[in-house]
Amino acid sequence: MSKIIAPKGTGDLYSPQIEKWQYLEEKIREYYSRFLYREIRTPIFEHSELFQRGIGSETEVVQKEMYTFDDKGGRSLTLRPENTASVVRAAIEKNLFNDMFPLRFFYIGPMFRYERPQKGRMRQFHQFGVEVFADESAQVDAEVIYTAMNFLDSLGITDIAVEVNSVGCSQCRPVYIKKLTEAAQKHEQELCTDCQRKIHTNPLRIFDCKKETCNELSLQFPTITENLCEECADHFSQLKETLELLSVPYQLNPRMVRGLDYYTKTAFEITSGQLGSQNAILGGGRYNNLIKELGGADVPGIGFAAGMERIILHLPDTIAGERKKKVILVAYRTPELRNHALKLCDTLWSNGACAFMDYSAKNLKKQFKKGDKIEADFTIILGEDEVEQETLSIKQMGTREQTVIKQEELEQWLKNNI
Ligand code: HAM
Repeated sequence: MSKIIAPKGTGDLYSPQIEKWQYLEEKIREYYSRFLYREIRTPIFEHSELFQRGIGSETEVVQKEMYTFDDKGGRSLTLRPENTASVVRAAIEKNLFNDMFPLRFFYIGPMFRYERPQKGRMRQFHQFGVEVFADESAQVDAEVIYTAMNFLDSLGITDIAVEVNSVGCSQCRPVYIKKLTEAAQKHEQELCTDCQRKIHTNPLRIFDCKKETCNELSLQFPTITENLCEECADHFSQLKETLELLSVPYQLNPRMVRGLDYYTKTAFEITSGQLGSQNAILGGGRYNNLIKELGGADVPGIGFAAGMERIILHLPDTIAGERKKKVILVAYRTPELRNHALKLCDTLWSNGACAFMDYSAKNLKKQFKKGDKIEADFTIILGEDEVEQETLSIKQMGTREQTVIKQEELEQWLKNNI
């Protein structure tokens, strides 16, 4: 019979990789709780309209990458390609804007994009992200960028750089788009067919094009940062000042427009020198119109999402070993003592220890072999004598040192040794 394999672009996570994921998830929870973020979990699929309206119908994500299907009730649903639209949808639907303060969320979970898989690029990948609502200050933008840099640094990921830009607002962007369109039209024939279409649908997306000729041409086009209105320019300079205050080293990239349409003002991306072509570890920005556009109040937002696979690629393999708890193998000399051994395991588990016994073992030697496999730190051997005298003989596997204790001393021994 033919083997069934996992769908292209998906993965299975198990030990020793899974320990890195657990480590990262714990770090995220611990770190972001310091800034008063609380976790939010939203569904993995949403009505397709949410992403079409939220992300923008001209984006690569919506045009080419969504897993969209009709359910048995004829509804068009989409596996979430990102989570900002979902968090906004949840906050509007559950009225969180009135009920919660501060409106700071973090999330961890799988996202789905139909992309060509390669190192660091999956069809089911995982993001952790944060969203902050109802704060329009440039200072909170800087704080969000500061946490992103600082968090990666705390994981030992240091070969990183953050690029920042302002993509303007509904006041200055249309004026700029007009200038950009004119500039692009002058070179229409030299642009790829995709970009020729974008001139008329969403010219900002020309900056996303991966083709070299389009890229080179776009260097001659006017940039948004030269065309910001007073308010956006002021926001941008406050952002830069605050980043300097917080000692966050940043680079300006006036052509970074991000791949999603909802951004206004601040946009940023963190890249890693260790990742090769898929070097974006994290991206985000401000979205002051998204909540309104999805039917909510006029509330601003800012956030980012990081690719967890890309973070994991930076974490050392030693994490699995460092996270291993001390393990006790409970071995028994004869099959008649198996129940005594099980009762001992019960005591060990109840006291919070990690214990293992081999139910089917025929002799001690076989049990010790299993002990090697589970990398037991201690072995407790039960024989007739120990049961009769109510003692326990404990062997430390590293030093081969053997101690005999009274059964009633076990709790204390655990406190001292585990
Ligand atoms: P994004 O730039 O589309 O932004 O994705 C954020 C990060 O997710 C990327 O920098 C990358 O590390 C990771 N990523 C994206 N696609 C893949 C893939 N196919 N395989 C592996 N990793 C991937 C967003 O998703 C926005 N929702 C971020 C945001 C939050 N903006 C405001 N709030």
